[in-house]
Amino acid sequence: MYPSALFAVLALALPALLSATPLTVETVEKRAVDFINPTLAGGSWLDKSAGLGEPLNVVISAQSSPEVLTLDGFLQYAQTIGFNIECLGLHLGDPQSANLGDGRGDVNETEVLRESFGIPGIGTCIESLTGGNHFRVFPQAETGALFLAVSKEEDLEDKHTIVPDGYNIGRDLLVAGAIGTKIGFDGKKFKFTTYNTVSQDVTGLIAAGTEGINHGIAQDGVIKVLTVKITKTFP
Ligand SMILES: *[C@@H]1O[C@H](CO)[C@@H](O)[C@H](O)[C@H]1NC(C)=O
Repeated sequence: MYPSALFAVLALALPALLSATPLTVETVEKRAVDFINPTLAGGSWLDKSAGLGEPLNVVISAQSSPEVLTLDGFLQYAQTIGFNIECLGLHLGDPQSANLGDGRGDVNETEVLRESFGIPGIGTCIESLTGGNHFRVFPQAETGALFLAVSKEEDLEDKHTIVPDGYNIGRDLLVAGAIGTKIGFDGKKFKFTTYNTVSQDVTGLIAAGTEGINHGIAQDGVIKVLTVKITKTFP
């Protein structure tokens, strides 16, 4: 084909290509969801540890600010609401895994965060000794939502088993410390961040009771869905 003929073909095709573009964009636009129910695709609301599991009783909604759903951004948020990485980076116990119905099958927790008692640096060491609240984190590949298995633990002497009613108690303590407006401080970037968190109860996803649940401790069947929005960063 002669160059001039090629140009003519392009000139004819170009307007059609350009006018088609907005249609394409519209059709691939994602519908906003908080999370996808793992049980719709072979997953579960229980994680796995030695056969039994712990309830994934808190979800950080995919409609949260994108920054909050990143590894570093979520750690900043968790620190703001009173949690931190484990004492001196020590990991106590085997990792647990979960199937979030996102096509990846069983995937190990990405991290365990522990109550830090408001003490920077070593607060989570106190949790490891005396017990307290803690949670495991499982990100859902499709949506970016974070599924948390939250529970309140006994002290080290009791080998970190869960306190009576520890799933409900741990979940409610975490939510109570998270909702409303909280201001976090990132010491590395010397930056403050204001978070606004709202919580919604979702029932009917997991049956209340002890079935399949580790330590035989009942949970009440309520999943708390938190939507976390960054409203301000400064300076
Ligand atoms: C999960 O962690 C365990 C222990 O570290 C490891 O043996 C296993 O391969 C991991 N599983 C996956 C899917 O990464």
